[in-house]
Parts: sequence; structure tokens; C-alpha cells
Amino acid sequence: MAVMVTGGAGYIGAHVVRLLRERGDDLVVVDDLSTGEMGRVGDVPLVRFDLADGSTVDPLAAAMRDHRVGAVIHIAAKKQVGESAARPAWYYEQNVGGTAHLLQAMESAGVDQLMFSSSAATYGLPDLPPGSLIDEEATPRPISPYGETKLVAEWMSRAAGRAWGLRTVNLRYFNVAGAGWDDLGDPGVFNLIPIVLGQLIAGDQPKIFGDDYETPDGTCIRDYVHVLDLAQAHLAALDYLDRDTRPYDVFNVGTGAGASVRDVLDQVASSTGLTVDPEVVERRPGDPAQLVADVRRIEQTLGWKAEHDLAPIVDSAWSAWRAGR
Ligand SMILES: NC(=O)c1ccc[n+]([C@@H]2O[C@H](COP(=O)([O-])OP(=O)(O)OC[C@H]3O[C@@H](n4cnc5c(N)ncnc54)[C@H](O)[C@@H]3O)[C@@H](O)[C@H]2O)c1
Repeated sequence: MAVMVTGGAGYIGAHVVRLLRERGDDLVVVDDLSTGEMGRVGDVPLVRFDLADGSTVDPLAAAMRDHRVGAVIHIAAKKQVGESAARPAWYYEQNVGGTAHLLQAMESAGVDQLMFSSSAATYGLPDLPPGSLIDEEATPRPISPYGETKLVAEWMSRAAGRAWGLRTVNLRYFNVAGAGWDDLGDPGVFNLIPIVLGQLIAGDQPKIFGDDYETPDGTCIRDYVHVLDLAQAHLAALDYLDRDTRPYDVFNVGTGAGASVRDVLDQVASSTGLTVDPEVVERRPGDPAQLVADVRRIEQTLGWKAEHDLAPIVDSAWSAWRAGR
């Protein structure tokens, strides 16, 4: 049976596709190339559909049958928090609508295994004591339309499990960065590491939004996970879907160790050899002091653990950047 990867031409999807290809899985990619690039999927067949378009349900189901699809990895989505605040209805249309159409096609084609790309953005501003890790039992309280769309999509797959037997593994990614190969770097400049690299290359210096948080160095702490480790988690999730009969699971995907904004900037200076002299400015509204994953559940259930820490993440991001991403 083949695996269908939606969003396989994007940053994360292309890593998943390459790893699955390397282990010999049969694959088909679905992507509208809105932010993805055809060249990233190599020799894997790509079917060009906009999942947000309801008229794709029947042709998508036909593609599932034609390619003998047994499981879907649903990565395709729009992912910019700021843009989602400016265009909430469009984000719901893209991410919730896109998932709804995919689930309809899966039901019609009899495909009952789903791995969904969710996000730590579902947690929002966690109400936790300083320094705590966040586990999957925390009440999700997304603070952006983007985070809301991810949570609604999780709920939709859970409801489909009750209604027609869909089995879903939701992976809640934390801060994904780095590159597994130089040609698969992150082409977007929406996350801290590519933003800082872009600024330094342009001769500008980065800003730190607040250094008076309740953290050891006063700057915000996040959990950076190497995209190659994250891609490996997808393979572990697929294998789990194949052997387990549970209808619905949620797993954090992170390292369990946080890095502060200052840690990241120090690592960027060390990896690039460039001078990093940040300006500290006012806090941004809606930034939690710390968001670090409790990763015990994924380690114990899927047997997956991140292998890379911050240094190889920034080294590989820089290497891909210099190679032209
Ligand atoms: N990058 C991160 O740090 C991060 C963190 C948490 C969750 N995520 C989730 O991971 C997924 C992938 O993120 P990414 O960083 O690789 O983004 P990306 O923009 O590089 O990839 C998204 C892919 O989906 C495709 N796509 C988007 N809308 C589509 C549609 N309507 N129909 C068909 N294809 C469509 C794009 O063309 C692209 O190839 C997203 O679901 C995102 O929400 C990413």
C-alpha cells in the first residue's frame, strides 16, 4: 500500500518524503504548490490539488484508489500566525476546509489511517508554573486563528474516528528548524532562526522582544526540534498506525529541552562566525515566557526521541542557507 503525503513539496513535507523514499515506501504527494516547490519531491508522483477546493474531493478519492493508498500524512496547511490574524476566514477555509475535504475523500476511498501535522500553537498561553514542561493533557487554548484551525482539525479527525473508524495520530510540532539536506532548507523567513540569518546577511541586527521574562536569562524559551528528527517521528507514527488499533492519539514532538532567544543568537554567532549584537525592545503581546514539550508520551509510545540539539540545528540551517536553501 502507498502513503499519500499532502504538503510533500513544502519544507517539512519534503523531509518526510525523502526519508520515506529512502526506506522504500510507495508514495504519492498532493500539493497545490502555493508555498511548496515541485523540485523538492524528486521522482515521487505529485498530484496538484488545492485541498481547500471542495470540488477536489472526488478526484482526490480517485487518486487514493489509483495509487492504492493505505495511509495519509496530512502536512499541507497555511502556517503564518500573523497572516491568520489578518485573514481568519481564509485560514479556516484553507486549514479546516482542506482537512474536511481530505477526510471526505479518505472515507469515500476507504483509507482509515491518518497522521496529522498539528502544532504547539494549539496550547496558546499555557497556565503553568514557571519552568514547567507542557504535556498533551494540558487544556488547549489557542490564541491565534492559525492555532484554532489546527485544534479544529484535530477534533474533526477524532469525530471521524467515532463516525467511520478513522484512526489518527496527531503530532503537535514545537519549533521546527534546521535542514536534513542542503537543498531542503526552510524557504520561509517566519521562524526565529531563518529570520535572524536573513537579518544578518542583510547587514541588520536582530531584535529581542523582551528580556524581563521569568526565565534564567530573561528572554523567551522555546523547544527547537531538528526537521530531520521531526521527519523521523512521522515514520514512527506511520508504523504505530499500522500496528495499533487505537482510534486517536496526540503526541508532542520536541526535544524536552528549551533554548532561550539569547541561546539561539549565541549559537547563530558561533555557527556563522558573524557578529550578533541584538537590540532589546518591548515584549510582543501573546508570547508565553516558555513553551517546551514534555516528550515522555512519544518516547514511551512511539519509541521516538530527538537526536539533535541546538548546534546541529543552526549549523544545518546555515549550511542550507549558504547553499541557496
Ligand atoms: N514550520 C514549523 O515550525 C511548524 C510548526 C508547527 C506545525 N507546523 C505545520 O507543519 C506543516 C508544514 O509546515 P511547513 O513549515 O513545511 O510549511 P510549508 O509552507 O513549507 O509547507 C506547506 C505545504 O503545503 C502545501 N499547501 C498549502 N496549502 C495547500 C492546499 N490548500 N492544498 C494543497 N497543498 C497546500 C504548500 O504548497 C506546501 O508545499 C503545516 O501544517 C504547519 O502548520 C509547522
